[in-house]
Amino acid sequence: MTVVEPVPFSTVLRTASAAEHEAAESSPFMGHLLKGRLGVDAYAELSGQLWFVYQALEGRAAELAEHPVIGRFIDPALFRTAALEADLLHLRGEGWRDGLVALPATAAYAARLEELVETWPAGYLAHHYTRYLGDLSGGQIIRGIAEKTWGFEKKGAGVHFYVFDQIDNPAAFKRDYRAKLDAAGLALDEVEQRRVVEETKRAFQLNGAIFTDLDLRYPLSA
Ligand code: HEM
Repeated sequence: MTVVEPVPFSTVLRTASAAEHEAAESSPFMGHLLKGRLGVDAYAELSGQLWFVYQALEGRAAELAEHPVIGRFIDPALFRTAALEADLLHLRGEGWRDGLVALPATAAYAARLEELVETWPAGYLAHHYTRYLGDLSGGQIIRGIAEKTWGFEKKGAGVHFYVFDQIDNPAAFKRDYRAKLDAAGLALDEVEQRRVVEETKRAFQLNGAIFTDLDLRYPLSA
């Protein structure tokens, strides 16, 4: 008799969102950024939009720390809000908060995050995974390009968001994170697992929508 091992939940999430990842990665805004074709104003705006996202992701995270399934994921070493604020101070100056407005897609994403903190913590995990594992992965590529394109000091002001000072070994951290995802998957029934998978795809789409809004605001011809 062949015993079929269940697919680890971390693999399920990665595989199920592969097409959405590809779409976000190849969106025009990201494409222009990766090719070093955007002005620093567009990068500053991206950082500003991310600030709204991380305010929503982290503002009430402490309330989830005791949650049986997702409590183990709440880790201050990941928190990005303070790093973003340091970057925004560098990029926009002392009055960085003045005139900083959430684009419609950003407001929609923040609203979804706030709703999940309130009503469905397992759904929040989908966004925790999408954002933080992304920041620890592709985010490092974006950091290198930002340093090169706009002359930020390596791992310095302007790119603090992409620097995880409290994580010495990102590869090991990601391995542990995936093991925690696998354990979380086992704690969820099949229906709930499927809902989290769908929410992960939605997380990528919500992020992609921010890039679309940014592309409208910072268009490049050809
Ligand atoms: C410029 C765009 C991007 C590039 C170049 C990029 C690149 C990468 C690479 C190379 C990995 C694999 C890293 C590894 O296996 O350790 C990765 C993983 C990941 N990326 Fe991206 N990425 C980009 C955009 C995004 C965006 C916009 C998101 C979501 C907001 C995202 C979310 C993720 C996630 C969640 C993973 C972890 C997948 C897993 O192993 O489970 N990425 N990315």
